[in-house]
Amino acid sequence: MNFLLETLQVFFLSIYFNLEALLKWFIPSRKKNVAGETVLITGAGSGIGRLLALEFAARGATLVLWDISNEGNWETAKLSKERGASRVHTYICDCSDRDDVYRVADQVKREVGDVTILINNAGIVTGKKFMDAPDNLIVKTVEVNTMAHFWTYKAFLPAMVASDHGHLVSIASSAGLCGVTGLADYCSSKFAAVGFAESMALELLAMGKTGIKTTIVCPFFINTGMFDGCNTKWPRLLPILDPNYVVKKIMHAILTDQVYLLLPRSLYIIVALKK
Ligand SMILES: NC(=O)c1ccc[n+]([C@@H]2O[C@H](COP(=O)([O-])OP(=O)(O)OC[C@H]3O[C@@H](n4cnc5c(N)ncnc54)[C@H](O)[C@@H]3O)[C@@H](O)[C@H]2O)c1
Repeated sequence: MNFLLETLQVFFLSIYFNLEALLKWFIPSRKKNVAGETVLITGAGSGIGRLLALEFAARGATLVLWDISNEGNWETAKLSKERGASRVHTYICDCSDRDDVYRVADQVKREVGDVTILINNAGIVTGKKFMDAPDNLIVKTVEVNTMAHFWTYKAFLPAMVASDHGHLVSIASSAGLCGVTGLADYCSSKFAAVGFAESMALELLAMGKTGIKTTIVCPFFINTGMFDGCNTKWPRLLPILDPNYVVKKIMHAILTDQVYLLLPRSLYIIVALKK
């Protein structure tokens, strides 16, 4: 196709998809059924990971819970069973260690089977100004918040591609869209996580694998303890979010195959203004 035709095609398709997105705002989307799906959640031992596990438990999914903390993971498993999950598998996995990710992923494939919903949620923050942050913590932040996503995709995506079925969820951050003072290493890792998830979604689309969905979640501060001590300057515009509210929104996004979820809603405007 020549350059002019291709440009016109992109122009009209972008208008079409924007109108479609606008329409979808008013027409409630159908939610998919996740009963019987195998959901792997990294960092399932607390916060958002735990709450997501409970949501999937109530919907009849098989749970594969990964965390570096055995105690937290066990607690999540116990709570998930109380919520009705009959198949819950816990694994200690240090997501920052590629060999550990591959080793535990092989164990999951042998013991549970193929993962169909992968939620990259584990995350850490140094919480120091860049020049004060020890090098090893900077490296660790990138290993957990970004590189772990590479290795989990490498481990679990081939089976999704083979069956053209699956869902990749990246719990990134609003810090992956806008730089924040005092969070330079964290922001870098989250920008990379967003870029990776976005690029892989396009790569899958180019491969014609439309059965594999992607959801990229970018919330502002959530009241889970991770950012204890951080305040918001504009609580009306950018409130500190309640974890239960965030998880309700994430579940809605996953069940309706929403690609981007920014929380709170004001972030859509802030990011658009920035762009
Ligand atoms: N809390 C917030 O304000 C906020 C805002 C935006 C995005 N996020 C993101 O949401 C995700 C969940 O955060 P949260 O608030 O629930 O934090 P959290 O600290 O409560 O939970 C993170 C979990 O990850 C686990 N973990 C840490 N390092 C690990 C490793 N190497 N291998 C395996 N597991 C590991 C921890 O043990 C913990 O259970 C993170 O990716 C975080 O960056 C959080």
